[in-house]
Amino acid sequence: MARRRAMITGVTGQDGSYLAEILLAKGYEVIGLIRRSSTVNFERISHIQDKITLVPFDLLDFYSIVHALREYQPHEVYNLAAQSFVQTSFTQPVLTGETTALGVTRILDAIRVVDPTIRFYQASSSEMFGKVVETPQTEKTPFYPRSPYGVAKVYGHWITVNYRESYGLHATSGILFNHESERRGLEFVTRKITHGVARIKLGLDRTLVLGNLEARRDWGYAPDYVEAMWLMLQQDEPDDYVIATGETHSVREFAELAFAHVGLDYRDYVVQDPRFMRPAEVDLLVGNAAKARARLGWAPRTTFQELVRRMVDADLALLQRQLADPRHR
Ligand code: NAP
Ligand code: GDD
Repeated sequence: MARRRAMITGVTGQDGSYLAEILLAKGYEVIGLIRRSSTVNFERISHIQDKITLVPFDLLDFYSIVHALREYQPHEVYNLAAQSFVQTSFTQPVLTGETTALGVTRILDAIRVVDPTIRFYQASSSEMFGKVVETPQTEKTPFYPRSPYGVAKVYGHWITVNYRESYGLHATSGILFNHESERRGLEFVTRKITHGVARIKLGLDRTLVLGNLEARRDWGYAPDYVEAMWLMLQQDEPDDYVIATGETHSVREFAELAFAHVGLDYRDYVVQDPRFMRPAEVDLLVGNAAKARARLGWAPRTTFQELVRRMVDADLALLQRQLADPRHR
């Protein structure tokens, strides 16, 4: 039988790199869509670069998507590309709307025109629940986004549902709660903390500057979550699924645990600065993934404590390697 082909937008990102790995392991031919940049940013995929086909495109450019679909004829498309940082969406709201919202329509419309049998996954977000109207949040919880990013993701979710209902596309929206890893971008709070802890432990920094310590998130481990994306596209019918651990922890708890893991007390190092506060905050997220458990057989495998320890250990090892490498001095 011919190999199944999967196309991943955002393959250079955290989730894209893990998804590419698991799809390769499942025997897929993987086509990674990348946007051009003046410097190479393949850190997360360098170990699998020779096993995947990299194709240039941009979410802002409709014909680049049409071209990629025509040329590579995927069976499944995973749309993970986005302007994904909430804080930046407040200073770049229009760009965020163009990529994170309208980018989804560009891909859906390209699929409709080129090959409507392609199965489509949209990377929706718990940020859509924003100022939550019920706890825990499920697929039926109304949205109340609190950032231009959240608003854009609500658009992306509904246009996915709309193309499913209007044109019969196999278009699925995965509403994923926060998921982290050693490949998380340094600007997100978990990685900022674990990298900061490692720097302090190694004597490279004396403080860690954060914003709101009381915000609560449902944090899972990214490799567990990309498996759910694949499971969603193997279902006979497209649908919406919440993916979450069902536990919520504050930024303060994350910091406390991360510092404690290297024998330090976070209160001696964490400094708060209004620069890292948001014009509107999402105070509490906690998801109920019962539907995914029942229909997909999916459950998280990594605990909050394991996640924190794994990220701190990875950052310590990374910095030690960099300190030993003269190119980083
Ligand atoms: P990420 O690490 O920030 O990766 C984002 C990817 O999007 C990168 O590959 C980036 O390319 C690409 N991209 C950005 N703008 C683009 C454009 N105009 N054209 C083409 N590509 C573009 O994000 P992530 O954490 O892996 O998240 C993956 C997806 O899931 C995102 O849509 C995010 O919003 C969503 N999501 C994430 C979480 C989470 O907790 N991680 C939770 C819910 C939903 P460059 O490498 O060139 O910048
Ligand atoms: N980034 C950041 N930096 N956040 C901080 C800081 C800081 O110094 N201090 C406190 N926080 C708080 C934020 O105010 C927010 O309440 C929380 O930490 C988490 O922030 P992020 O890690 O930036 O993630 P996010 O929850 O806003 O967004 C992430 O999760 C969404 C799913 O709910 C991103 O991955 C989104 O792309 C994703 O959709």
